[in-house]
Order: sequence, then structure tokens, then C-alpha cells
Amino acid sequence: MSVSQNQASYTWRLNPSYIQNIQNRKFKNDYIMKEELGKGGFGTVMRCVTKDGKKELAAKINNSPDKKASMKMEADFSRDLSFDANNPNVKPHMNLVNIFDSITEGDIVYNLYEMASGGDLMEAINEKEFFAAVDAAIAIKQILDGVHFMHERGILHRDLKPHNILVQGRDIQVYKVTDFGLCCKRHTDAQGQFIAKAHGNAGTPQYQPPECHIPPKEYDTDFDIWSCGCILYQMLAGYPPFFDSDAAKLQRSIIDIDFPYPSPEWENMADAKDMIDKMLAPIENFAQVWHNSGNRVYPKARYNRQTYAQLITDKFYTDGAAQHIRTKPTETTLEKYNARCVAKKAILEAYWAANPPPPPPAP
Ligand SMILES: Nc1ncnc2c1ncn2[C@@H]1O[C@H](COP(=O)(O)OP(=O)(O)O)[C@@H](O)[C@H]1O
Ligand SMILES: [Mg+2]
Repeated sequence: MSVSQNQASYTWRLNPSYIQNIQNRKFKNDYIMKEELGKGGFGTVMRCVTKDGKKELAAKINNSPDKKASMKMEADFSRDLSFDANNPNVKPHMNLVNIFDSITEGDIVYNLYEMASGGDLMEAINEKEFFAAVDAAIAIKQILDGVHFMHERGILHRDLKPHNILVQGRDIQVYKVTDFGLCCKRHTDAQGQFIAKAHGNAGTPQYQPPECHIPPKEYDTDFDIWSCGCILYQMLAGYPPFFDSDAAKLQRSIIDIDFPYPSPEWENMADAKDMIDKMLAPIENFAQVWHNSGNRVYPKARYNRQTYAQLITDKFYTDGAAQHIRTKPTETTLEKYNARCVAKKAILEAYWAANPPPPPPAP
């Protein structure tokens, strides 16, 4: 399936009442609520239909007064991504979940999005156990396209993970980035350099790059490229590259860029591993960040993290990795991985007991 063909025919429009910013609208005047589609840390998502029965939508709902501002900010980011105020002819991107409407009633905010009927990528991975290389190539191509569209508009996602990628239909394989609740705008400093700073414990540490774990925790759009690398790895393996229930150890393995390619599932996967290595790689000024964090030994990465423009010519990405024959593990990947986690934990605990890590520098 060609993504560009789909892009050409993809049409999506905001609700005219939302564009006109009509005040005091009531959700139930325009929509009928149906069953729950999913839940995240931030909101409940319900299927709903327009009163005329013509459109099926997904309403992200939150009624907590202290989340109201964040819900409205999420709607603003989504609107900026779905609609170009200066050019109404610009089509929204088919690899982003586009917003249709947003209604505030007292403390309740309803953000209404196009509905993705195939669930999220986490469910898809769990269902299949792992993706065939050719399917993972199709998915990561679309996810990176959606993310690049966001970056072109000066917006970072910052919470890319399988739960935040939705699948449109089970057979046609259209993947859509969603959950714009942690988005931030790129800002440039006096020298024209971009600066964004991590705040609090926002996001999902497992999918965050080393520069987000080391003070001063500044990052750029390549933050999202790293998370996409984690997603590609997880699609192919069934488990994420960095996993440890101990937060300090998880952070250490990310900072060290220490993740495994266990056999047999990663045998015959040279192109896939090469592309992952280009995404789960240090940023160019990482040596400085690394040094500032009290480390002397530079990690053994083969590449600097690549940009979207570099990645789109990657062999795995362009030929769909059709030649990859995935070796089916004899035991399930998850069993194997869990066993390895236990063994690794014991080794790491013994190591850290003998070699305590240096304290992090003061923020
Ligand atoms: N447009 C949608 N169509 C279908 N399901 C959705 C849609 N948006 C969200 N969901 C489901 O709801 C879950 C939570 O939505 P999300 O926007 O990620 O909320 P949170 O910010 O709380 O994580 C998703 O992981 C997905 O399973
Ligand atoms: Mg989410």
C-alpha cells in the first residue's frame, strides 16, 4: 500500500462550530456517547457518534479541574496539527489522529478526534507477539512520517510509545500518532539554537532518550526519533529495548545505551538492527552531556542519532526488509525476556554493589 496515494485522498475537516469558536456548546446537543475505547493516565476515551449518525468519533474526556488547562492545551496542539489557519487547503496528515471538535462544559473537557478502529499498537504487538519485518517497516515509515509532520510545524511529541500509536482498521495498516498531551513547541534562544527542557517526571522514561535523563535535560526533535527507535525494536521483538522495574537501573541502561539483540529472534535481522542503531544512538553533542554527568567512558555506539531525512533512505525503511526471515523463538519472547531480566538484575546488583555509580551533578 502506498502511503502517498492514501495521503492524496485523505480528507478531514474540523467541526465548523469549533472553527467559529461558538460558546456554551453542550456535548449532548451534538453527540451521542457510546462505549469506552481506552484509558490512559490522563483521560478516558469513549466512542461517540454525531447526532445525525454520520460520523463516528473518539472523545477524550476529563472532568478534573486541575487537568482542564492541559486538556485545552492538548486540543490547541491537535488543532494546530490538524488545520492550518493560514491555508485552509492544507490537508491534515493521515498518520496523525486529527481533532474534529473540542467542547468545554464547566470542568469537563471533551476533545473529539477521528476514531481509529483497530485499537492501539501495544494491543497489536501483544496480539501478534511480534511484527514481521515487512510490517514493522510499513508501520515505522508511517509513524516517522507523522512525527516529521509535527516537527515541521515546530512541535515535539515527547511521549511516543506503542500505546500512543493507533491502528486504523485491522487489514489496511494505517498507523496514526495520537496523545498530544505532552507536546511542546520548539523555542529558539538568542543564538537561534533550539532549547526545550524536560519538566518534572512527564512522559514515559522507558522511551525517553539519554539526554532527557541527564541534567540539564535539554533536547530537540531527535527526542522523538529515539522513541521511534524503541517502538521499531518493540514491534520486531515483542518487548522494549530498555526494561527494568528498578527506575535507577532503567535510567542507567538508557544513559549507557545498553540494550540487547538476543538470539534467535535477532538473527538474520542485520538491516533492522542497523536502522535501530541509527535511532537508538547518541546525539551529536552527547559526549559533552556524557562528560558533564561525571562519566569518562563514551558508549560504544556505531552512529550518531540520525535525522528523518537520513532515515528515509535507510535500506530497512525503503525496501520493507522483505528479505528478513524472522527466526521464531522456541520459547515465547516474553518468557525468554523475563528470564533474562532476572539474570541481568542479579548481575547488575552485584556490579553496582561493588561499583556504586557517581552521584549525579546538582541540577
Ligand atoms: N482516536 C482514538 N480512536 C480509538 N481509540 C483511541 C483514540 N484515542 C485514544 N484511544 C484509546 O484510548 C487510550 C488513551 O488515549 P490517550 O489519548 O493516549 O490518553 P492519555 O493521555 O490518558 O494516555 C489509547 O491508548 C487508545 O487505546
Ligand atoms: Mg496515552
